[in-house]
Amino acid sequence: MKINTAEFVVSNSDASKCPNEPIPEYAFIGRSNVGKSSLINMLTNQKYLAKTSSKPGKTQLINHFKINLNWYLVDLPGYGYAKVSKKTKSTFQKFITDYFDKRRQLVSAFVLIDIRHEAQKIDLEFMQYLGESAVPFAIIFTKADKVGKQKIASLVADYRKKMLADNWEEMPPYFVTSSEHKTGREEVLDYIDEINKDIFQNQNNPI
Ligand code: GTP
Ligand code: MG
Repeated sequence: MKINTAEFVVSNSDASKCPNEPIPEYAFIGRSNVGKSSLINMLTNQKYLAKTSSKPGKTQLINHFKINLNWYLVDLPGYGYAKVSKKTKSTFQKFITDYFDKRRQLVSAFVLIDIRHEAQKIDLEFMQYLGESAVPFAIIFTKADKVGKQKIASLVADYRKKMLADNWEEMPPYFVTSSEHKTGREEVLDYIDEINKDIFQNQNNPI
């Protein structure tokens, strides 16, 4: 898919105030610092569209970016960031779970996982939560430029094993990406394009 336009539309901390147009959206979620905002910049070929930082906790709000005038990419705050106060943390922040629970425009989430680390409890828990909430999702492994090919294969295999042990019937669709090297860009965009085509062609679509 070709990206012709990508523009920031709005930030907020209230899922009910997100744009109300009936168009599909795709949200990036994952631990702080995993590379959610960087991936949005990589996919859209823009350096500074989403704000990134080497320090965790940079993205604090729900950010909507309109792509090609007819769908949204959504950048979310990370989870598992220790500096968020214990009271507001409750594992996953309420406005984030509100977003996933209520957002009918959300057609797929992407759970981002740093390819360098073995499967972590918090990520498996978040996927469990998405499953229970009936939110479709794919996995995006990030920072693939930091590890060798063999290591990538063994880390993906470790994830598959842990998900199956967690009672998933199969591993969801997954992508291996690097925002540094633009790895996986076409694959992620084509995946979104396929879903969009289905939605745009279906006159009865529920969004
Ligand atoms: P929060 O907004 O804090 O939740 O973080 P985030 O998930 O949006 O991460 P962000 O995109 O801000 O990136 C965090 C750090 O990781 C930055 O220093 C990025 O430059 C770096 N980074 C992101 N993606 C990649 C990648 O593919 N390769 C490498 N080497 N570094 C990356
Ligand atoms: Mg961010």
